[in-house]
Amino acid sequence: MADNYLENKFDDYRQKKSAPVSKSGHSLVSLLKKNRSYRGYDPAYKVSAAALEQIVAVNALLPSAKNQQALRFKLVTEDTGADKVLENIKLGGMLPELHLPFPGTEPKAFIIVCATVPESKMLHVDMGIAAQSMLLKAVDMGYNGLIIGAFNAKKIEEAFALPYPPVLILAIGKGNEKIELKEISAEDSHAYWRENGVHYVPKVRWEELIIR
Ligand SMILES: Cc1cc2nc3c(=O)[nH]c(=O)nc-3n(C[C@H](O)[C@H](O)[C@H](O)COP(=O)(O)O)c2cc1C
Repeated sequence: MADNYLENKFDDYRQKKSAPVSKSGHSLVSLLKKNRSYRGYDPAYKVSAAALEQIVAVNALLPSAKNQQALRFKLVTEDTGADKVLENIKLGGMLPELHLPFPGTEPKAFIIVCATVPESKMLHVDMGIAAQSMLLKAVDMGYNGLIIGAFNAKKIEEAFALPYPPVLILAIGKGNEKIELKEISAEDSHAYWRENGVHYVPKVRWEELIIR
């Protein structure tokens, strides 16, 4: 037991040294671990427009190809058209039999990402940086989220009379799913699955990601 105590203390020390904690109490790795894709949300939590604004504000801090900053954001809450987003998105495409989200757990706040320039490789990189940064901010604020690439762009553009084409949608809310990461080999299936109410997400172990 004494040995364990010392070992744990040393682990704590090592972790603190390698992963300093931010002012908000979250280290980057803990934010990244918490930042899972949620497809079910607690209906008791309402996300306000002010919270969505705070999330979008991180975009003023991000790198951008040629510093073009071509992304614009439409904020949608429960009171400003969430239903119109819901009917035009597809969640959990790898588990079609579940028809996610389950009734009563639908996301009710969204950030519709639009682009002022035509889609390109560089714009796609900017979109990825923006999406992940906004999700990390949401997690830092106590929310969860989901990146949605499967949506009816024409219907969304029309429904919100958007001045620019929508290229990505983020759902934001308080997740109510149990999600666990599972370490896998690169050759194993990458498909997420559900078992006994837990959503498992396979991730290739980092050692196998390095080209040797
Ligand atoms: C660019 C992009 C588009 C995505 N589009 C969808 C989508 O349309 N619907 C959905 O349910 N999940 C979508 N996802 C979520 C992925 O399925 C999810 O990231 C993956 O299953 C791994 O889970 P994790 O985010 O918890 O690690 C998208 C993720 C990314 C990065």
